[in-house]
Amino acid sequence: MAHNDTYLITSSEIEAAFGMPDAVKCVENAFRLYGEGKVQMPPKVYLTFEKGDLRCMPVHAPTLGIAGVKNVNVHATNRELPTVMALISLVDPETGFPLAVMDGTYITNLRTGAAGAVAAKYLARQDAEVAGFLGVGRQAQTQLDGLMITRPGIRKVLACDLDAEKARAFCRWGAERHGIEAAPSSAEAAVRASDILVTVTPAREPIVRDEWVRPGTHINAIGADAPGKQELDPSILRRAQVVTDNWEQASHSGEINVPLAQGLITREDIACDIGDVVTGRKTARSRPDQVTVFDSTGLAVQDISCALAVYAKLTSTEGARASLTRIRFF
Ligand SMILES: NC(=O)c1ccc[n+]([C@@H]2O[C@H](COP(=O)([O-])OP(=O)(O)OC[C@H]3O[C@@H](n4cnc5c(N)ncnc54)[C@H](O)[C@@H]3O)[C@@H](O)[C@H]2O)c1
Repeated sequence: MAHNDTYLITSSEIEAAFGMPDAVKCVENAFRLYGEGKVQMPPKVYLTFEKGDLRCMPVHAPTLGIAGVKNVNVHATNRELPTVMALISLVDPETGFPLAVMDGTYITNLRTGAAGAVAAKYLARQDAEVAGFLGVGRQAQTQLDGLMITRPGIRKVLACDLDAEKARAFCRWGAERHGIEAAPSSAEAAVRASDILVTVTPAREPIVRDEWVRPGTHINAIGADAPGKQELDPSILRRAQVVTDNWEQASHSGEINVPLAQGLITREDIACDIGDVVTGRKTARSRPDQVTVFDSTGLAVQDISCALAVYAKLTSTEGARASLTRIRFF
């Protein structure tokens, strides 16, 4: 295909065209493609700064006819700016032409929520009613939005944050948006009551104790996505069925990275990758009383499949294309 123009796509243009239901479909398909071995995706590369980091996430999905790179930071001490901000470039794999440069912040939040949603679909009990949240920043919102799609039986949320006002605000927002009960909570009470627990903090030592986790709980461990980060007591990982999004990335930077480095768990403690579950090759939950953990580090194929869907929609007609900003780089 011949191209001249590169489209510059903003977050508000993406938000108008793409929502959580779209993201859940894209991410489930992305996990399937990855599970089928149809994705070229080296592990993300990290630059570390004094106050945060920058990750580079390349991917090629031949069956989708797309390639691209996401650059994304994590600066947990940002106050005015979000902790996580991203930029995605989409490339035509046939020619290498840059099709689009687009905001990746909204897509990152959405695809991370969608990953939690897909993991809950395959790993959580179908009768899950109570969801606990440890950490209620930006990602927590999309985690709840995603869960309400794949586990619509959730009727109650318990939220814990170091910032008590944030926990109250999250509860007001969640109750109004989803018509559910939502209450601030201590970490222990939230974990003890949870059918599904979402941990989404930048913690560097465990904030969830093994004895708080009751049989049958599913945990979406989202926050640990860089070396040295962890949110769960390693004993939880020893008794749970642990599913990583990608073993290589997770062992370097996911929830399992610290306990692996400390020799508290080994590769034998990890059941499989989520792609194995979505393709049906592995079953992660075999009993209702099993504890399951999804260790999410975030895969470039999640981003690219969402970004491609956005690009396809926003450039589908001449009228739609005309309203976008475009640039000739050369
Ligand atoms: N797995 C993935 O794909 C993925 C994607 C994006 C972000 N993340 C990670 O998720 C984490 C959260 O990102 P965010 O954008 O929501 O950040 P954020 O700064 O918006 O929110 C983090 C929240 O956690 C709270 N918090 C910190 N320590 C806590 C503790 N010990 N107990 C309870 N609450 C605590 C903070 O007060 C804040 O409200 C980061 O570590 C980020 O790197 C992971």
